[in-house]
Amino acid sequence: MRFLTKKIKEENSDIIICFIYENEEKRSDVFEYLNNLSNNVLCEQIYKFKVIKGSFQETFEYSINENLKTLIVGLGKKNELTRKKLSQCIASATRRIKNMSKKGSLAIELIDTSNCSNLEFNDQDAAQITLSAARIGLYEFDKYLHDKKQKIETIELLSKEISPEIEQGAEIGAYTSFAMKFAKDLINESAQIVTPKYIANLAEQIAKEHDLESQIYNKSQIKNMKMNAFLAVSRGSANDPAFIHLTYKPKNKPRKKIALIGKGITFDAGGLNIKPAASMLTMKSDMSGAASVLGIIQAMAKLKPDVELHVISALCENMASGSAYKQGDILTAMNGKTIEVDNTDAEGRITLADALCYADKLGVDEIIDIATLTGAVIVALGNNITGIMGNNQKQINKFKDIASRYCENVWQMPILDELKENLKSEIADFKNTGGRNAGTSTAAWFLSNFTKSKSWMHLDIAGTAYLEKTNKETISGPTGVMIRSLINYILS
Ligand code: BES
Ligand code: MN
Ligand code: ZN
Repeated sequence: MRFLTKKIKEENSDIIICFIYENEEKRSDVFEYLNNLSNNVLCEQIYKFKVIKGSFQETFEYSINENLKTLIVGLGKKNELTRKKLSQCIASATRRIKNMSKKGSLAIELIDTSNCSNLEFNDQDAAQITLSAARIGLYEFDKYLHDKKQKIETIELLSKEISPEIEQGAEIGAYTSFAMKFAKDLINESAQIVTPKYIANLAEQIAKEHDLESQIYNKSQIKNMKMNAFLAVSRGSANDPAFIHLTYKPKNKPRKKIALIGKGITFDAGGLNIKPAASMLTMKSDMSGAASVLGIIQAMAKLKPDVELHVISALCENMASGSAYKQGDILTAMNGKTIEVDNTDAEGRITLADALCYADKLGVDEIIDIATLTGAVIVALGNNITGIMGNNQKQINKFKDIASRYCENVWQMPILDELKENLKSEIADFKNTGGRNAGTSTAAWFLSNFTKSKSWMHLDIAGTAYLEKTNKETISGPTGVMIRSLINYILS
């Protein structure tokens, strides 16, 4: 897909999305342009016959001529518009267009941010949000469908004038939406194809294409690094584990160094503590963290910030078999700490333990992990809010602020010493699970024992990475959640 920024009069599209506000007579330049082309029909329909009021997510479809359609979208009341609502409007509008089975070129109005006093909005963010949301709405995974729809090939962002800020926002938006599509495609692909080896090969390919440093470790190299916790999880599978580490280095001295770890369980059957069928159904998505960080590093290689970025994932399957790790096993992680296996289905934290130890040795300023870690986060926060935890409140506050600016929901959960009791073991440093209470925080407390970083943050995306029901913005299936926030966090 191509992205362009265009002055209104230079638009060259088959379909144009244009916005109106509720109870607002002043119309946008794009609206006036379309109204002229329609010989005032649009104005008549909307402001005289009131076919739509302009309320939030209300739409009116109109064919201006054989070659040009328009979708007028209501943004609701002007003083109630938020960035998130804008994103939801654009994503649902483009979703409609996708279902209209129209191929070719789509143009979208860039809203005039100087007009929205309450938005704390600038043109750069508006451009970024608009393009990301458009591609969220247009996304589909039709590789295995016999009947494929025609696809939009180009998105034009329309504005009266194209400033450098708009260009810059569009560029970030384009690469962000590429990263999201990359991650979603990889998560949608079946686990029989996406094995640890497959992702390792893909990582190697990405490194070559983007000129990144890459270290890919196989099973015996993982053994040599003494990642015996990670290895134990992988033992039940016929597919060998792999450990990947890609590095993006800026030309000049980096302003900061960040390690980004993605949970990479390519299928989570639960191990010997096997999951019931309904819970196992979506567990090809247990590598969403790994897919996200691989998408993000590709975006960074293009956007070239002066930040050093390490992307890491411990990849394996969690299966039940004669060679699988067992309840009661005692595992020793890379940092020497011992873990009593209380439940083989709490495998993510075991693999992340070794990945965190590895990241600790890189001498980075910050470590962030992103993981489909606990069902408990779904009980606590549902499917549209990501749990955020960590040991540095300043880092968490900054991330929370950026997430809200780029239309994603996060909510902080505590990591307190009291949680230690939940994982008390008589024969090892800790157990890997401890009952149903405070499951998300307890998992995070477990992780905190495997990093010495003073700036470690953990994102639990178990509820948000993969949707069973379509929400206001994203269709069911993988969401690419936190990619927008992480990219903007790294750039900031
Ligand atoms: N991958 C799951 C967490 C998960 C659950 C992700 C639902 C997406 C949707 C994780 O490995 C897991 O199985 N966690 C267990 C931990 C329990 C045994 C303490 C869980 O949450 O049930
Ligand atoms: Mn599990
Ligand atoms: Zn898992």
